[in-house]
Amino acid sequence: MRTQVAIIGGGPSGLLLSQLLHTRGIESVVLERKTKDYVLGRIRAGVLEQGLVGLMEEAGCAERLHAEGYPHDGTLLSYGNEMFRVDFKEHTGTPVMVYGQTEVTRDLYEAREKAGGLVEFNVEDVVIHDADGDAPYLTYSVNNEDRRIDCDFVAGCDGFHGVSRKTIPDDVRREYEKIYPFGWLGILSETPPVNHELIYANSPRGFALASMRNENLCRYYIQCSLNDKPEDWSDEAFWAEFKKRIPADQAEKLVTGPSIEKSIAPLRSFVTEPMRWGRLFLCGDAAHIVPPTGAKGLNTAASDVHYLFNGLREFYEKNSCAGIDAYSTKALARVWKAERFSWWFSSLMHRYPDQTDFDHKIQIAELEFLRSNTAAQKAMAENYVGLPY
Ligand code: APR
Ligand code: PHB
Repeated sequence: MRTQVAIIGGGPSGLLLSQLLHTRGIESVVLERKTKDYVLGRIRAGVLEQGLVGLMEEAGCAERLHAEGYPHDGTLLSYGNEMFRVDFKEHTGTPVMVYGQTEVTRDLYEAREKAGGLVEFNVEDVVIHDADGDAPYLTYSVNNEDRRIDCDFVAGCDGFHGVSRKTIPDDVRREYEKIYPFGWLGILSETPPVNHELIYANSPRGFALASMRNENLCRYYIQCSLNDKPEDWSDEAFWAEFKKRIPADQAEKLVTGPSIEKSIAPLRSFVTEPMRWGRLFLCGDAAHIVPPTGAKGLNTAASDVHYLFNGLREFYEKNSCAGIDAYSTKALARVWKAERFSWWFSSLMHRYPDQTDFDHKIQIAELEFLRSNTAAQKAMAENYVGLPY
């Protein structure tokens, strides 16, 4: 088989790229290791920057997002019983869109299917060949049958555990990593949100986050130990701990109910450089990971897709390599800013095992500064709603 762009990974990065290329008549094939149900079973963050909303519009996939998503004009931050709001609309003129990543992925799959796009599931042993030459190709197998795709370019959209990043030789690749000494225990419950906006809570017992999907589906998190297992936490224990970490007036209003999902995610900051090697381009989690504080994972993947899509368009429509040559530098410049923001927001809101009383006082001072200082709120709001592409 031959295609123009071979895309490894059928997560949001790979699907969005494939659908955008389709709008310009550029052919692609998506290879996904798992099944569609498996991909759609993963629960991830649910806050979309305007840039991603714009890309979904450009891809012709934003109808449901506009009908069912919730624009949020601000967010709440608490420390102990104190709570304040950062107004995104006032400081940036832009809201964020609350809409689950799973739904974004579902909409993209639907669009790919409608357009007759080829997505191969259950692919095994994908190997990228000759990415540093002029004629790259992939080999892989499906049901023990060996296959080959020849292509102009390879987009490595295969997440943190994929093959693409590792294809870049060790002497070319540089990796930067920070592991956080805690995780997030998250539950999904069919209950109304405790507040109509998200609450990021710094409490002496650790971080908590109240998020939501719709008026009867909530996503709540608490910072937990990396040694914890989801089954160590009964629903009752989760709710009791969650209530202790948000302001008392919010805890009083909290409606609890059985969890329909419960999982623990570790927190990691990670960047690989460069994001291009020859005709191989890395996109999304394949190249970088952020801790979830601030919901930058999917949004940063989207900005990569934007730069790569436009680079490939320039190549096919104008016969120019300028965009693809600038890809790694442009993508990384924005990636590092998202890394900085999510590291800063994580550092501000969590309890660290080796944190002293001094460190805690500094966190509170920074929160009080943010509460009272317009410039600090503007900086936070600009980062939260998403820096320009
Ligand atoms: N061959 C084919 N597919 C693979 C391979 C492989 N060797 N390795 C991984 N994949 C698939 C995974 O099964 C997954 O569906 O690649 C996909 C990568 O999807 P994600 O991990 O979701 O990464 P990405 O599409 O970059 O999405 C960015 O935003 O909120 C964040 O971390 C979150 O998923 C997230 C992301
Ligand atoms: C979520 O809704 O899952 C979510 C929202 C905001 C975050 C992280 C996760 O910062």
